[in-house]
Amino acid sequence: MNQPVRLGVNIDHVATLRQARGEQYPSIIDAARCVLDSGADQITIHLREDRRHIQDFDVPAVQLVTQRYGVPLNLEIGVSQEILEVAINTKPQWVCIVPEKREERTTEGGLDFLSSEHFKKVQNFCLRLRQECPNTKISLFVEADPETLKKCIELKVDAVEIHTGEFAIDYNQGEKYTSHLQKYEQAHQQLLPAGIGFHAGHGLTDESLKILIEQGLFIEYNIGHWVICDSLFWGLEKSVKKLKEIINRGSL
Ligand code: PXP
Repeated sequence: MNQPVRLGVNIDHVATLRQARGEQYPSIIDAARCVLDSGADQITIHLREDRRHIQDFDVPAVQLVTQRYGVPLNLEIGVSQEILEVAINTKPQWVCIVPEKREERTTEGGLDFLSSEHFKKVQNFCLRLRQECPNTKISLFVEADPETLKKCIELKVDAVEIHTGEFAIDYNQGEKYTSHLQKYEQAHQQLLPAGIGFHAGHGLTDESLKILIEQGLFIEYNIGHWVICDSLFWGLEKSVKKLKEIINRGSL
């Protein structure tokens, strides 16, 4: 593997705790600093339309931290004009476009490009983003499905983030998971000639991360819920370092 593998830590759930009580703590800024001091390569946040965790004021505040550390801010956004304006004002290094449904507990799957109407919407969204933020890289959160990936190639995006949620659930429940790995291998082969970055995210834990690291295909992992949960017992620093060690060991 010639490119260093990156760890993006998603700190949304620090804001989930804060919003649960409408308090000023825990501080998302302290969380971002701690995560970066512990070796993470970028901060990921998802400004949802329903504002259930990250708030608008968090976005520039977290961006300031990433700028001070000289690392990327990866802003996850749904296909909404209101949120697009926030992204345009922020101009982060990365925008990851995700599907979003109000009633979902968390992002439930990749973007649906099999619907031509939805594809068109994302295409126009990318166009505006590129016009307004020419230095922002775009990734699309998608399933490892050949037809969907064809559409990602058509959009000439910088990266795809493959939805690893179903693999992670199967792994956690002791089910067979090799079919997911086969799909990732095929997806990687399909995207390689187009030079599109191959990222992974959703549902990953330290143990399921090890499997993907062994496979050695992805160049970036975005992990959130597990890190915040693990940090309840070990502290954020140790939990981030655990993931970083898994990545570093596997990439030697
Ligand atoms: N990547 C994307 C695109 C996501 O939507 C999320 C959840 O916000 C994550 C990664 C992080 O997922 P998790 O919190 O399950 O690790």
